[in-house]
Formats: sequence, C-alpha cells, structure tokens
Amino acid sequence: MIKNFWYAIEFSEKVTREPMRLTILGQELVLYRDTQNNPVVMSDLCVHRGGALSDGFTEGDCIRCPYHGWKYEPNGACIEIPANPPGRSIPKKARVDAYPSVDRYGWIWAFLGDLPEAERPPMPELPHFDNPDLRRTTGIYEWDVHYARALENGIDFSHGAWVHGGSFGNRDEPEIEDYNVEYINDLSARATIDFMPNRAKGLWSRLYKSDKERAPIKVTNTWWMPNVTLLEVQLPFGFQRLFNAHVPVNENKTITKWQLLRDFFKGKWADRDAERRVIKIFNEDRPMVMAQRPELLPYDLAAELHVRSDAIQVAFRKTRNKYLDMGWGIDMHRIRAEYANYQAVVIPSPARREVPELANAWIMKEVPVKGQDEPDDSKLRRPGDPRRSAKRSTSTNGADSDVYEDFN
Ligand code: FES
Ligand SMILES: [Fe+2]
Repeated sequence: MIKNFWYAIEFSEKVTREPMRLTILGQELVLYRDTQNNPVVMSDLCVHRGGALSDGFTEGDCIRCPYHGWKYEPNGACIEIPANPPGRSIPKKARVDAYPSVDRYGWIWAFLGDLPEAERPPMPELPHFDNPDLRRTTGIYEWDVHYARALENGIDFSHGAWVHGGSFGNRDEPEIEDYNVEYINDLSARATIDFMPNRAKGLWSRLYKSDKERAPIKVTNTWWMPNVTLLEVQLPFGFQRLFNAHVPVNENKTITKWQLLRDFFKGKWADRDAERRVIKIFNEDRPMVMAQRPELLPYDLAAELHVRSDAIQVAFRKTRNKYLDMGWGIDMHRIRAEYANYQAVVIPSPARREVPELANAWIMKEVPVKGQDEPDDSKLRRPGDPRRSAKRSTSTNGADSDVYEDFN
C-alpha cells in the first residue's frame, strides 16, 4: 500500500450528488459531486466524534455530517457547527483531509497523499479514451487479494496459454519469444509479444473465414503506477483494449473496475458477449491469484524466481520498490498492531504540507509509513539493508542463463 499517487478509484458514472463511501488503502473515503459536477473526495471521518460523512447529505457544494450536523466544504474545512450559538467561531482544527480529485478516462481519480502539487507524480495519460468510435463496456470483479498481485496478473504474459488454455489461450503453443520492456516514463512501462490464440469460439468464430487464418496475434501489456493496467489484443478483425483499475480496498481485498474498449461489433447487441468473455477470463485467473503465497507482493526481488517472460512484471516490482524506498509505503502492520480500534488514522492530504498555518490543525493522526509494505519481510529487509538488492544465483554452477536477474 503506497501513498502519494493518483489512484483511479471509481467509475465516473457512479459518483453523483449523493455521498458514497469507499474504502481505499484501508481508509474510509467519502465521494460526491459538487454543484459544478466536480468530484469531491474527502476522509469519511468527521473530526467531531468520528461519524461517517458518507451517511450524511450534500448541501450546495458542502457535505453535512448526519450525527451533529457539522457542515464541511469540499476543501475539508468545517463552516458550521449547529450546536454553537450564533457568533461563536469555528475551531481551526474542525477540518477533515480533502484529496485532489479528477474525473477522467471514465474513472474518478484521487491523489491520496500529502505532496504539494509540484512534487506529485502526474496522473497517467491513458490512450484511446478520446476516440468516440470505440464501444465501451464496464464491470467489476472483487478478489480477496492484495492489489499488487491482481495487477501483476493483469500484465502477466505467460499464464495466458496456460490458465486460459480452454478459452483464448493454447497450451500447445505456450512459448514466448524474448521481448523488450519499454518504459513510457518513471511510472509506466509496456511490452508486446506474439501470442498464438486458440480457435475463436462463439460470436467471434464468424470473423475467421477458416482455421488457416489462425496466426499469432499481437498482445501488449502496459502498467501505470500505482494501479492501472491495459491489455491490448490485436485480433484479426479489430482491437480489444481492457483497462483495469485495481482498486486497493485493503491489504487483502481488491476491486478491479474494468473498462473494455473495442472497435468491432460496436452495437449494443454485442455488449453481453464482450462482457461474458471478460468475466470468463477473470474467473479463470481468480483461483490462481487467490492461491498465491505470500499474499503480499514480495519486496525482495530475489524472493521469487523470474524468467525472461516475466520481464514486464519485474519492471513493475522495481518501480514499485523505488517508491517504497522513498518512504511512501503505508505501514499497515503498525496500524493493525498498535492502533487497532483505538486510534483512527487517515492518509494525510496536501493541505497538511501546503498550508503552513494549518500545520497543527489536524486532529486525525496520519498513517505511519515505512519503506516497504510487507510486514514480515520488513523485519528482514529494510531499505538500505545491503541484503535487499543482493542478487542470488539460483543455480549451483552460476551458469543458469534462463534465470532472469535484471534487477538493477
Ligand atoms: S460526529 Fe460528525 S457532527 Fe458529530
Ligand atoms: Fe489471465
């Protein structure tokens, strides 16, 4: 779990004037739209008695806590305390954390962290959403897994032939030629392979004239920090692009909110078929990811064995580690062990750093951070620990050229 990134957290169309509650990174957030239709994202924790703002209601651009009626502006400041007699001032500390938010690419994005604007990692720039000719279908899947495991599954080439051998993949042709990982910037990378698909079934079989047309297809996987992936499949009859926002509810639960853009079969009549194909594939993935141990993605790159075809996931792990090393990892272990139900914590918002006069105005404690987010591993390998980046040879003679060790 990492702070200081723009997270895609909800479908745009789900967020209305009616407040809604979302749990992200183990924290409760409230979402709604102001009178201009702009999204508002705040901590869902009223500083008065810990009430849930999401159970309240909007009034103009503001939201009112249902318990004692405190009214908060979108910037998190309380502007009304109904029990106070007229003329009594509002304490400076009557404020909740409010997070910058943007409505783009069919999702609401929130910057969950306290970096000032100039220092924030930028929002991902996602391709294809500006093309009005593409047909969009959406859905969700909910897995009891850490989001980084779900994300890696989304960019994993080599399981395709295997796990999906009964659907689009083909177990008889699982080889993957070496490919290059192309970094788009510090926050994103992609790679393309030739993939031998299975025979098309159902609706799609109409598009192949004969089985002879079965040839390798281009498959591209892209990831953007912290939680978005794209699977692009160039079928003989068109492009299918599956964008996934792997929304981290907490360490053990991920809700992936997906959007499928396709440039063929663009009528509404084909939506159900497109949806069914996506769901079938996710259901094939689910037991694999649910079974993975450890549940959290290892911080130590040598803790699992990579081969060449895993290069795109290794690139993700390396990038993620870089940001964990910067001290952005939320210490979930400490939150559970020390704070438990006694102390509510929140992800600090930019106002905590940007507005000096508010430096001491925060009632809610910030989430503690550490350099990485694996509680058990952290005892062994803190950032700066020389063992952290040590390459481990997995072969006894040091000549095992199939082990992918491009860690540095
Ligand atoms: S708990 Fe929100 S107003 Fe009292
Ligand atoms: Fe899969």
